[in-house]
Amino acid sequence: MSHKDVMAVCPGSFDPVTLGHLDVVERAVALFGGVIVGVGRNSTKNYLFSFDERMQLTRDAMAHMDGVRVLPIDGLLTDFCRLQGATVIVKGLRNSTDFDYELQMAQLNAALSGIETVLLPGSRQYGTISSTLLREVALNNGDIAQFVTPEVDAAVRAKVSGSVG
Ligand code: PNS
Repeated sequence: MSHKDVMAVCPGSFDPVTLGHLDVVERAVALFGGVIVGVGRNSTKNYLFSFDERMQLTRDAMAHMDGVRVLPIDGLLTDFCRLQGATVIVKGLRNSTDFDYELQMAQLNAALSGIETVLLPGSRQYGTISSTLLREVALNNGDIAQFVTPEVDAAVRAKVSGSVG
């Protein structure tokens, strides 16, 4: 079976979606036959954006990509993959902190379902930016425009100005 016959899932919290996420999804599209972006919940995280907002911002940011669908993950990621006929999970890997976390999740997901995880090293131009750090910069009135789409930048500004006071 060729990798072009494989349906891949790119899962994440996307709180908010960044140019780093778009890069990983674009590269997954080049590698596999189809890509589903799964917007999930990590119950240990406090989110800036609601689930619906994260879905909408991610959908809008990826609307220009052919063959990419953005869907909500309800429940386990591995159940979502099975339901969608996906056999590979693709995630970006920025550094060794990511690696430890991603290795655990990859092993757990493989044990739960047999689904393989492919880790793509982050592209150099996106460095080690994370949604967590961008939220921190934005909450302190910093400018994150170089790391996100104009729509996400506007949404973050609106959210932050609404939450301060
Ligand atoms: O961007 P994140 O926060 O690393 O994404 C984490 C996410 C949403 C992919 C992960 O929390 C997830 O898969 N959630 C669905 C529930 C689940 O399957 N949890 C076990 C993962 S090992």
